[in-house]
Amino acid sequence: MSKQILVLPGDGIGPEIVAEAVKVLQVANDKFKLDIELSFDELGGAAIDKYGVPLADATLERARGVDAILLGAVGGPKWDKLEPSIRPERGLLKIRSQLGLFANLRPAILYSQLADASSLKPEVVSGLDILIVRELTGGIYFGQPRESKVLENGERMAYDTLPYSESEVRRIARVGFDMARVRGKKLCSVDKANVLASSQLWRAVVEEVAKDYPDVELSHMYVDNAAMQLVRAPKQFDVMVTDNMFGDILSDEASMLTGSIGMLPSASLDANNKGMYEPCHGSAPDIAGQGVANPLATILSVSMLLRYSFNQGAAAAAIELAVSKVLDQGLRTGDIYSAGMTKVGTQAMGDAVVEALRSL
Ligand code: IPM
Ligand code: MG
Repeated sequence: MSKQILVLPGDGIGPEIVAEAVKVLQVANDKFKLDIELSFDELGGAAIDKYGVPLADATLERARGVDAILLGAVGGPKWDKLEPSIRPERGLLKIRSQLGLFANLRPAILYSQLADASSLKPEVVSGLDILIVRELTGGIYFGQPRESKVLENGERMAYDTLPYSESEVRRIARVGFDMARVRGKKLCSVDKANVLASSQLWRAVVEEVAKDYPDVELSHMYVDNAAMQLVRAPKQFDVMVTDNMFGDILSDEASMLTGSIGMLPSASLDANNKGMYEPCHGSAPDIAGQGVANPLATILSVSMLLRYSFNQGAAAAAIELAVSKVLDQGLRTGDIYSAGMTKVGTQAMGDAVVEALRSL
């Protein structure tokens, strides 16, 4: 039976980068006889324009029915003035939560060809290979109650809630340990247990789960220290597991270690490894429509899709190798450009990966 992928290009540079990733996916499909069928729909601002809401019920149903989802990026100034409950980002949060995509994997890998593109010294980042495991469907992003109100004295106030249940912590901790087990066998759990009750539970539950993984070395770190250590000595980390908001922040930070957020893919998985795959970067409205965005994070998201949801490790590795070959050829989009390289646009970069993959 063929495998179904729903493609949601989204907003801003989303459609441009997704178009390149789809070309690569189609070549992989032929080459490795993957029997993949694609369908397309809208999410975010594009969905607001077409359906009046950032995630239409019919789109959500289609997303439930497919084997995997490939997403571009959502959001842009055009929709920034809408009231919060119907903004593009709401569509993204809703699809994550409705599909139970609680495990967000964000690898930060430095391609050796890009060591000069990092803002840190090459010796600090060369060989960097970190995996951030971010809890994605709980914590302060979804906690109730949350409210903005006007107090009796006329002052405006607002608050959010940061709840975690032990089962939520346990399942994401397991993902962290499972990932560490097949990598460098080191897991750093990041929290704020010196201040937050939710973090104290987090730490206690992670300790309990650790008993099932005696082969993995567990450490704990407060999030402020982790933010500092990531720029001081990032290679000390193998896998980091953390909550939704800390993971949001630390994964952006980690991405810049690799030179550009334009290189970083992500996977968001449910309990059965069904997943949604998207670049870590946003919709970059400032460069949308110019054909200059870096499509590699989305292309590498296709590789994660094939590996995690379809168990096609060989096809995934081939895409990663094709990307590496293109970097060897000196091709660079503007975000990873350095002197002496050949600057190319989105399409030329996609075409080069397609060519490299075909000729492997
Ligand atoms: C991310 C993004 C999203 C998040 C936004 C767009 C809602 O920053 O995927 O990291 O905060 O999760
Ligand atoms: Mg983010």
